[in-house]
Amino acid sequence: MSAPALPSSSVRAQLKATALDAARVAGSILTDAARNGFRVEYKDTVNLVTDADYRSEQAVIEVIRKTFPAHRILGEEGGAQSGSDPEYQWVIDPLDGTTNFAHGFPAYCVSIGVEYRSTCILGVVLDPTRQELFSAETGQGAFLNGTPLQVSRTPTLDRALLVTGFAYDIRVSAQNNLDNFSRFALTAQGVRRTGTAALDLCYVAAGRFDGFWELKLHPWDTAAGLVILREAGGRVTDFKGTPYSIYEPSIVASNGLIHEEMLDILRRT
Ligand code: IPD
Ligand code: CA
Ligand code: CA
Repeated sequence: MSAPALPSSSVRAQLKATALDAARVAGSILTDAARNGFRVEYKDTVNLVTDADYRSEQAVIEVIRKTFPAHRILGEEGGAQSGSDPEYQWVIDPLDGTTNFAHGFPAYCVSIGVEYRSTCILGVVLDPTRQELFSAETGQGAFLNGTPLQVSRTPTLDRALLVTGFAYDIRVSAQNNLDNFSRFALTAQGVRRTGTAALDLCYVAAGRFDGFWELKLHPWDTAAGLVILREAGGRVTDFKGTPYSIYEPSIVASNGLIHEEMLDILRRT
């Protein structure tokens, strides 16, 4: 595969500084809301949203617009915003792990990715509770608070700790991932569900998990984590083993070594 085209190094530096700045601003909004309170609305019975989701997204967009007013933006809450420069798109999940956040379970993050010419080239994920900042740029490696990240070396599925998630339509859709969950629970060392897909990808990058799969994700869940995991040496595909696109719903992400074993289990669906 040929190396993706990249912006100049000075533009890359500006993109990174802006993403970091936006993540910090959003992180402090979430921390403040977690301490001082927030309002909850229900999109449907299972899927909720808080005013902190909206305020975080607004703050991220304001920071981006100051430096890059012409870029396109895709945010979970506000949808797509056009821009006169079609080469760049920012992909934002202002609060990944909303259900956790609303219950006071401290596993959530801000996720900010940048696409250049339709390829994700930059990812920043901030967990404000632990003050863990995951970041990566294509070709530059992945980092956690400045320390380089590397995926685990777990060689086989029976030694692997996996993570997954379930979509909000779990009560009404037959494609609810429970079949895969039970198969992996019987073959891996363990399976977890954290409720934040962006952090799941970062945790595979950090070697805390060996693999992750999920069925019905959105571009904002994975845009940043994809770059972070690839730069940490991981492999990310769809369920057929084709390189992953953030516009496809299904993802398998791993340390590479257990990837084929994971695909074998998912092919039995
Ligand atoms: C959700 C989380 C969760 C995953 C869901 C996502 P949200 O995002 O990433 O881990 O299982 O599929 O929708 O709604 O908290 O931003
Ligand atoms: Ca999300
Ligand atoms: Ca969200």
